[in-house]
Amino acid sequence: MYFGEPRVPGLRSGRGFYAIVRHKEVTEALRNPEVFSSYPSVSIPPPPPWAKYIFGNSMVNLDDPQHGRLRRIIARAFTPRMLNKMEEDVTASANRIIDRVIAHGPGGDFISMVANPLAAGVICDMVGVPEKHRSLVIDRVHTWADYTGVRPGFLSSVRLGVKNTRGMLGLRSMFVELGKERRRKPADDLISSLVNANIDGERLTNMELGAFCTLLVTAGINTASNGMAHGLRLLTEHPEQRELLLSDFARHMPTAIEEIVRYVTPGMRTGRTITREHEVCGQRLLPGDKVVLYFLSANRDETVFADPDTFDITRDPNPHVGFGAPGIHFCLGANLVRKEMTVIFRELFDRLPGIRAVGEPRQLLSNFENGLTELRFEF
Ligand code: HEM
Repeated sequence: MYFGEPRVPGLRSGRGFYAIVRHKEVTEALRNPEVFSSYPSVSIPPPPPWAKYIFGNSMVNLDDPQHGRLRRIIARAFTPRMLNKMEEDVTASANRIIDRVIAHGPGGDFISMVANPLAAGVICDMVGVPEKHRSLVIDRVHTWADYTGVRPGFLSSVRLGVKNTRGMLGLRSMFVELGKERRRKPADDLISSLVNANIDGERLTNMELGAFCTLLVTAGINTASNGMAHGLRLLTEHPEQRELLLSDFARHMPTAIEEIVRYVTPGMRTGRTITREHEVCGQRLLPGDKVVLYFLSANRDETVFADPDTFDITRDPNPHVGFGAPGIHFCLGANLVRKEMTVIFRELFDRLPGIRAVGEPRQLLSNFENGLTELRFEF
């Protein structure tokens, strides 16, 4: 189905987009990057050209071979071996957070007290962001998430746009400065390995480093935090599923995570640009046409998922597209977030067995992130 783009004063309007909503077509598009290109941007409508000039290109918006070069350099930090090495650190962070929750008293806001600090802490540790810059990273990533949302007035949208651009510029500069420091004095972190030549002699330029680290924090903090928060909400709303999970945590948690990601779909959509004439469901697409791939809808496709609206932690197979589909852009952080969710729920249910979400969560008003801005909990 085609959607035109409304004209907004002061902003460039694009030529609209075709919505692809079923599992089969979404998966086919993700697996066919020669026709469904991520370049110039997976955001539809695309950001203005000056944004690329200032921020550089991140790999999510590139096709091979440029994408492949960046992904190869970066993927070394995400191998199962590296992630296993992180297990201890993630567990230690989770327990420090739970200590603070216990000291604080019998409840609070799960997003700001648990999910966000864990998601942000893990990525900042991995990247090598010093403690003193972390609240700034979290603040700017929140402004970005807010920016993907819907604003009630034109002026407030513009104000938020300016605030977001400044915030993202500040983030990029911070990463570039850290890169320069680590070139002089390498440490045991991702920035050091990205700016110093690795075994293939490949390394990132300052611009690429800034763009990549900004992508990492924007792609990795809110999505993971929302996965954890929606996870607690769902396990509270479905006590029989929670009981089943706790009856054999090690056995059920892997499928529970996939079901949380399917059911919630923290990143609801992505976009692609058509490179050559192609047909989808009888609709002829021409070079330059934009398509939006709706993960959220594909994940509830009743031809693939039996009872798609049922939250079932034993669902297996579960070929959801919450992390994208197997292909060149499959989520780089999928195994990391699986680890974060396993650790936090294991430690929470162990140390605070009565923990549960209470009241109505506050939803982020966004057509991109299925996010919560507040989730009250008690234990
Ligand atoms: C539940 C949490 C998460 C969800 C639902 C999610 C979802 C996704 C999806 C759907 C894509 C594909 C986008 C596209 O094809 O246009 C993607 C790509 C990506 N994700 Fe995630 N993500 C999550 C967590 C993370 C984390 C924790 C990190 C970082 C540590 C991360 C880093 C990335 C990166 C770098 C890409 C781009 C990969 C590429 O273009 O090759 N994600 N993610």
